[in-house]
Amino acid sequence: MRLSDRIALVTGAAGGIGRAAALCFAREGAEVIASDINADSCMETLDMIERDGGKGMFVKADVTREDDIVSLYHEISVRYGKLDTVVNIAGGDCEPASDVEQIDYLRMSANIDLNLKSCIISCREAARIMKPQASGKIVNMSSLVYRGSPNQFTYSASKGGIFAFTRSLAMSLGRFGITVNALAPALVEVPAFVRALGEERWEMLRNDCARRYPLGRVATPDDVAKCALFLASDDASFITGQIIEISGGARL
Ligand SMILES: NC(=O)c1ccc[n+]([C@@H]2O[C@H](COP(=O)([O-])OP(=O)(O)OC[C@H]3O[C@@H](n4cnc5c(N)ncnc54)[C@H](O)[C@@H]3O)[C@@H](O)[C@H]2O)c1
Repeated sequence: MRLSDRIALVTGAAGGIGRAAALCFAREGAEVIASDINADSCMETLDMIERDGGKGMFVKADVTREDDIVSLYHEISVRYGKLDTVVNIAGGDCEPASDVEQIDYLRMSANIDLNLKSCIISCREAARIMKPQASGKIVNMSSLVYRGSPNQFTYSASKGGIFAFTRSLAMSLGRFGITVNALAPALVEVPAFVRALGEERWEMLRNDCARRYPLGRVATPDDVAKCALFLASDDASFITGQIIEISGGARL
């Protein structure tokens, strides 16, 4: 097992990608702190981990609240006294695709708060534990739209910010034995998308993307989870400051 005896925090662990990552990490031997704002669904993730023979705990946290993030890390510190890996997955697009003139101040702020500020504060708290232990692996969730997206202005800006922050942090934490990388998936088939769009619109979107992606399909949550696993494992010991596109070759 690639993560034996490791303690791993996964935020957004109730969602499509976060759940897949939490399950994947637990299967590889990590004890997983599954965190999310959605307690019921995250408890389901924890049940799945335990039914699978893995170990973990649930801590509720709203990542847009600094005090929630600080408490989350405090709880980890008190309970385990160490933290090997953080995968910052909680996030989402709070502003529907629109023309630039329609950018809404509150939705823009929600996107920056949920995706970018949450990631920065989570990494700050992770560094407070990881620097003294002189080891750690941080994996942040960007998106392929970090390259720009013609009508997802504020979401792409928040994910582009994660790219810049990840590189800055990697430069600063490398000498403490800490790696910092980011994931940039193209479209991933998650239940939340299918629910939000409805089956018919989802099928159209999925088929349109699948036609355009060289590998001929959209990503599964496991595709993304396995990349996070790689970056959290010793196999990626000399990789830092990278953004890994999990895109089936989209936008090459
Ligand atoms: N699905 C895709 O196509 C795709 C592509 C690229 C990047 N992403 C990113 O992947 C991440 C996971 O998304 P997903 O596709 O699994 O969607 P999802 O909606 O299933 O998962 C998002 C999770 O984040 C949680 N969350 C939302 N607000 C929160 C808050 N304030 N505090 C704590 N948790 C909160 C939700 O409860 C949910 O469990 C997001 O950061 C998203 O931007 C998704």
